[in-house]
Amino acid sequence: MDDNKGLVYVTRKLHFSAAHKLYNPNWSDEKNTEVFGKCANSNWHGHNFDLYVTVKGIPNPETGFVINLKKLKELAEEKVISKIDHRNINLDVDFMVGKMASIEILAISIWNELLPFINEGQLHCIKIYETPRQYVEYFG
Ligand code: NI
Repeated sequence: MDDNKGLVYVTRKLHFSAAHKLYNPNWSDEKNTEVFGKCANSNWHGHNFDLYVTVKGIPNPETGFVINLKKLKELAEEKVISKIDHRNINLDVDFMVGKMASIEILAISIWNELLPFINEGQLHCIKIYETPRQYVEYFG
């Protein structure tokens, strides 16, 4: 049986600009450079990130909506964008403190930030583009 049969997938796209570096403090500078290359640059580098938040569900017959996209946008702005836009992911973002600042870890962390507050439909996917050619998806 397909549990997702009949569901509609609704996505809100958001955008943020942020700095980060990929650096494992348990390794030497040489090993960090070997593994992460330019991304380990100690004085940071930045990206223009695109974030896609997808919620799945059955449309409410009274609204026709799986989730109110305006409310989803406001939630994502409050819990994620306001904390990360024009910030340093390694240093400034409370839900990334002590974590590797890769988009993989960022996607998991954003999922965990939003999940408790999605009360229409069901959180399905967090997708983050770091560059036009590089993205991750997390399905919980
Ligand atoms: Ni980067």
